[in-house]
Amino acid sequence: MTTPYWVAGQPATSADLVEIRTPHDNALAGVTSNATAEDVERAVAAAHAVAEEFAALPAHARAAALDHVSRRLAERADEVAELITSESGKPVKWSRIEVTRAVSTFRWAAEEARRFSGELQRLDTDPAADGRLALVRRAPRGPVLGIAPFNFPLNLVAHKVAPALAVGAPIVVKPAPSTPLVALLLGELLAETDLPAGSWSVLPVPNEVAGALVEDPRLPVVSFTGSGPVGYSILDRVPRKHIVLELGGNAAAVVCPDWTDLDRAAQRIAMFSMYQGGQSCISVQRVYAHEDVYPALAEAVVAHVRKLGTGDPTDPATDVGPLINEAAARRVEAWVDEAVAAGARVLTGGRRAGAVYEPTVLADVPAGCKVVDEEVFGPVVVLDSVPSVEEAFDRVNASRFGLQAGVFTHDVRLAFRAAKRLAVGGVIVGDVPSFRADQMPYGGVKESGTGREGVRSAMDDLTEQRVLVLTGLEL
Ligand code: SIN
Repeated sequence: MTTPYWVAGQPATSADLVEIRTPHDNALAGVTSNATAEDVERAVAAAHAVAEEFAALPAHARAAALDHVSRRLAERADEVAELITSESGKPVKWSRIEVTRAVSTFRWAAEEARRFSGELQRLDTDPAADGRLALVRRAPRGPVLGIAPFNFPLNLVAHKVAPALAVGAPIVVKPAPSTPLVALLLGELLAETDLPAGSWSVLPVPNEVAGALVEDPRLPVVSFTGSGPVGYSILDRVPRKHIVLELGGNAAAVVCPDWTDLDRAAQRIAMFSMYQGGQSCISVQRVYAHEDVYPALAEAVVAHVRKLGTGDPTDPATDVGPLINEAAARRVEAWVDEAVAAGARVLTGGRRAGAVYEPTVLADVPAGCKVVDEEVFGPVVVLDSVPSVEEAFDRVNASRFGLQAGVFTHDVRLAFRAAKRLAVGGVIVGDVPSFRADQMPYGGVKESGTGREGVRSAMDDLTEQRVLVLTGLEL
């Protein structure tokens, strides 16, 4: 059966069929179709037409729809997780966590929709404004184009859809071409709500067609998660639009000499450099450990990496499955080979079979190698010994990216220093950089992007302030 796409809340199919195959064994995960040019036009026109009505919809109506989606995702969690695994090859243990996270992303959006009230600002701070008061509220900037990546095909779509619906901004979602099925299932759940027709559409379209959507003036906001080159090409293409970019990173963990439980740090580093094949913008790619703890840490990281379950992503014991396709695994292989040719040592891993790349730990990687400087987006971690924590911080900052960093320390003053020194969007103390709670602000500095997700932060980003000044009041 062909999974329909969604045009202004209605199902549709076209003759341009697309087969989605699981990267693990090439089995058919599902069939959908690319939206026709006419359907794309209908979706955009409907989003534009409904914008005013949708912005005026009472908060309880938007919150009820978001709560409904959250509840239905929870009810269908097993099926949704299996679909994520089957279209992306993500190990089912991580797919289940992703569904749980999406349940909470929609639940948070419902809660924030009820709270989103604005604030009062007194203006009688100077004689000229005696008796005046400002009411500062936020209004949607307009319909949103949400472009989502393959690595979290449900929850990163949720991070586009839920905040937009929470603020009353219509949204047209373009899922990743390799993983549209779960986004289309989300459409099924949205279609069960009373949201106005036109307030949402889910359109699988090839990346080449997305350019026209990006340029369409009826979609004044573009929220993109994906690679830097594509993100910046959007920014260059439509500099006058409001653009949110969640781009890549080469996230680092710093292990300080005061950290007592080295085995715990090693276990977390091993798991979160390799989880879902390292295909997360905040997977641990670089580790800077103080020289006092480095030898023991490196040994423990290797031991924990060797214990990770690999293979069939449908097996609940599997931690690391295939990459999204063989081309991605070949690229990772080429980058590791480049590092090895330059003198790096492979402590474990280092081989490829089809779309699977072995969980790989590298040491002694010379400066300038891609596995350090670029975003690997694969199951590879680079270990390095540093003489001081300050040097570790310098090395973290010697990157053109800045998404999140992890700092293993028990020293609260060092934690504050890390937060001040590290040029990243978020510092995680006592854990890896890969920690993300869906309500917290999430986003990067430098070439990791602009704008913030996290439900409330995204709601702020998708809206602009409107001030109402009241005069002649007794304050
Ligand atoms: C990402 O890869 O950008 C998102 C990571 C996450 O949501 O955990």
